[in-house]
Amino acid sequence: MHLSGPLTARWTSYLGVLSTLSAVYTPAVAVKEHDFKKCDQAGFCKRNRAYADHAIASSSWQSPYTIDPNSGSFSNGQYHATILKTINDKGDTVRLPLTISFLESGTARVTVDEEKRQKGEIVLRHDSTARKERYNEAEKWVVVGGLALDKTARIESEDNTQLTVKYGPTSNFEAIVKLSPFAIDFKRDGASQIKFNDQGLLNVEHWRPKIEKAPEPEKKEGEGSEETKEAEKPREEMKEEPNGEDESTWWDETFGGNTDTKPRGPESIALDITFTGFENVYGIPSHTGPLSLKQTRGGEGNYQEPYRLYNADVFEYILDSPMTLYGSIPFMQAHKKDSSVGVFWLNAAETWVDITKAKASKNPLSIGTSAKTNTHTHWISESGLLDVFVFLGPTPKDLVTKYAELTGTTAMPQEFSLGYHQCRWNYVSDEDVKDVDRKMDKFKLPYDVIWLDIEYTDEKKYFTWDEQKFIDPIGMGKQLESHGRQLVTIIDPHIKNVDNYPVVAELKSKDLAVHDKKGNIFEGWCWPGSSHWIDAFNPAARKWWATLFKYASFKGSMENTWIWNDMNEPSVFNGPETTMPKDNLHDGNWEHRDVHNLNGMTFQNATFHALQSRKPGELRRPFVLTRAFFAGSQRVGAMWTGDNTAEWGHLKESIPMLLSQNIAGFPFSGADVGGFFGNPDKDLLTRWYQAGAFYPFFRGHAHIDARRREPYLAGEPHTTIIGAALRLRYSLLPSWYTAFHQAHVDGTPIIKPMYYTHPSEEGGFAVDDQLFVGNTGLLAKPVTEQSKESVDIWIPDNEIYYDYFTYDIIPTSKGKTVTLDAPLHKIPLLMQGGHIFARRDRPRRSSTLMKWDDYTLVVTVGRDAKLSEGDLYIDDGDSYDYEKDQYINRKFVFDGSTNAITSTDAEGRDTKSIKEGDWLKKMHGVSVDKIIIVGAPASLANKKVTVESDGKMLTAAVEYAPAGSGRAAFAVIKKVGVSIASDWKVNLA
Ligand SMILES: *[C@@H]1O[C@H](CO)[C@@H](O)[C@H](O)[C@H]1NC(C)=O
Repeated sequence: MHLSGPLTARWTSYLGVLSTLSAVYTPAVAVKEHDFKKCDQAGFCKRNRAYADHAIASSSWQSPYTIDPNSGSFSNGQYHATILKTINDKGDTVRLPLTISFLESGTARVTVDEEKRQKGEIVLRHDSTARKERYNEAEKWVVVGGLALDKTARIESEDNTQLTVKYGPTSNFEAIVKLSPFAIDFKRDGASQIKFNDQGLLNVEHWRPKIEKAPEPEKKEGEGSEETKEAEKPREEMKEEPNGEDESTWWDETFGGNTDTKPRGPESIALDITFTGFENVYGIPSHTGPLSLKQTRGGEGNYQEPYRLYNADVFEYILDSPMTLYGSIPFMQAHKKDSSVGVFWLNAAETWVDITKAKASKNPLSIGTSAKTNTHTHWISESGLLDVFVFLGPTPKDLVTKYAELTGTTAMPQEFSLGYHQCRWNYVSDEDVKDVDRKMDKFKLPYDVIWLDIEYTDEKKYFTWDEQKFIDPIGMGKQLESHGRQLVTIIDPHIKNVDNYPVVAELKSKDLAVHDKKGNIFEGWCWPGSSHWIDAFNPAARKWWATLFKYASFKGSMENTWIWNDMNEPSVFNGPETTMPKDNLHDGNWEHRDVHNLNGMTFQNATFHALQSRKPGELRRPFVLTRAFFAGSQRVGAMWTGDNTAEWGHLKESIPMLLSQNIAGFPFSGADVGGFFGNPDKDLLTRWYQAGAFYPFFRGHAHIDARRREPYLAGEPHTTIIGAALRLRYSLLPSWYTAFHQAHVDGTPIIKPMYYTHPSEEGGFAVDDQLFVGNTGLLAKPVTEQSKESVDIWIPDNEIYYDYFTYDIIPTSKGKTVTLDAPLHKIPLLMQGGHIFARRDRPRRSSTLMKWDDYTLVVTVGRDAKLSEGDLYIDDGDSYDYEKDQYINRKFVFDGSTNAITSTDAEGRDTKSIKEGDWLKKMHGVSVDKIIIVGAPASLANKKVTVESDGKMLTAAVEYAPAGSGRAAFAVIKKVGVSIASDWKVNLA
């Protein structure tokens, strides 16, 4: 959460504290758009946009980057060369090592560094403890695999202007590397897909000495080669950047009263990346605005500003904006009919991305063909390496799976975390928590987790409790545990700087905090007032952090206590743009500038590992929610979209925002149900629960100044309607868990946009207000507008669609929009024919209590009545035993030609040979209770079916309802009685 608009009582009391201190900080009461930089207020962004304007406007522009023709070498799937950047009219150059790696996965990686600076130059630097070289450790935090080189990649042709490398699993990819100016054209099946430096916007701001007014440094007589002499020449001889470049922000710049010193001077990197023939680009979350990204260079309906990626605590964020938010994933996908390609820009510094679309100039010889649209993107980062991964698809799934190979997949979650989470800032006491817990039961509202925001602590000292209000945390935890429920407490990275607080004393004495530019422990302001920040980049700090979570250290925590990491952008109330000064120093003396967007992930990761080591011998899956994130954060928990507002617009925006998370590799995502700021009216609250039931992470949350809004307070009919949405979520948990498992296996989105599921259907490429859940064929379109009693659903194919609740056949066809009634109690939810999905229909108080419940299978018969298929993945939902075969993974098939439904192991394992632990043994007693067949064949009117399982032949009764007035025929096979863990066959004929 963020500081409220009207000062809270607590904050007012900080002011009292503050005014007694020497450095008085006046808090910004309401952070608004102008409190965050626009591109022209970030020196490097402004310079690179100006560079682009100049290059694009001038017809004679030539990019000053060329590959030294004698420098190239190719071996073992890697091309090495040196790019020479010409920096003046005399032809002086700077040397930039280039590596192009061709990976076994078919992904290509382009890395540009800057040759190590010469000693003589470093002497000229002004004093700083910061590192001198470009930051080169983003890979260390982000990339966990997929880097094996493709030894079969080969140079197909080469002359003194370019070389062509053939690569990819079927050698149908090509990289054509042009030497002068340096450019790359990535092709698939002979057609250009992605071009680097096609517009000539590559820019590597090379290291240069700061020209002090001091006397001229002595010229040295070099003894080395000609080349070394050149490099050792004091750079002031090599007159820089000809065209009156704006140097005003090279060495420092000020914004909002904060001055950023830049000991390394200007060091940005930028590159234009063209997606040839692609009109839609997606990804680079988190932003508000449509899933299909907008143009950013002005014009009707476009943004004026580039999309910005600089994790920040943005107070009362605005809708439809390229402004930065709390987390960043620099992974972009381009899509056109039947073709997807993408890039992953591995850089953790502040990054801006301009997007423009233009008709490709028509080839005069190809008369009759209409000009295609190209999407031009311009990526600009403040520091670090230029390091870009290129994915050539061709499907959206290829992109997400290749990206997942590099950055990892969603961790298998605690199963309870897919249930509903009840949060507010704040439940005020242990009695309050217990009361909410009782009332949820009284109103038959299922939930799994109740949350405590910062007020549970003793004056914002994490790992402590306000002992006046939380008198018996263990008693509270035990009441929750008795219904299989959990508690999440907040623990943030800012550690209160106060006497008699052992946590801060250790942080300081062990020197594990982030440092300021002078190397002293950084001090800033956050919830507790004066604070220090743990430096989770430091292995010793992570080790220490883990000790704090031991049950014996964090007294009052227990086995059902989990953690929420907020404010980890990090949020620093008195810092520039509410975050840390960029010249702060982290472990290894890297500047905060270099690692900013990684900061939240390293902290969440530290907490994740801390939870794993709470108790020796107890390895359970942690649950950690984070606000800040980066590529790779999916490996260690869930995210939410931060401090939204109780307005219809925010409800609506949550769908494209979460779809964007899902296609960008971090699908375990949600938005605060009800809206954080303000008070939703009852209809809005109700509609938000109906939408939230389709968020991968489903949590209600509210600001401290917001009125209480636990769902039982809404009154009728709202409470009952909300309860139905919660129960819908709970009954579908087996299918949600299966979708999470798929995300864990290969990075597949949990909720899917239309372009992803139907990459051929152009009409769906911009549709971002409806979604498919996993592989269930469930198509949801939450109502997100006030007083709306119907929705228009876009139908992607010619499959049959049934209403989830009534089994009505939706009259529709491919590419058409169908209008569905959606009065307040109704969630627009369709079932696409051709699927089988699992539910657990018995209403319970929490997911844990459903652990041994029987299953219902729903078969949706397709239009051609041939095959319906589906999966169900089950494990104990808590341990890592699934890594040792302790799971069930079924494949269900309804075959219309044999008129039978079968269940087999989805991986074709010999399940009989698995050594079964207690959980798996017990699962044999869990049955398929019911099979519902929607669009049932008439043969089922026979009343009975035979069931074969484990060598036995049984019969089961059938209730059959013939089709009638728009409704499909359906059948319910009752008391099927087969084990969910076994192979079986139901003969319908
Ligand atoms: C996460 O923590 C582990 C254990 O300390 C460490 O090995 C790993 O590098 C960390 N990763 C990130 C992304 O912080």
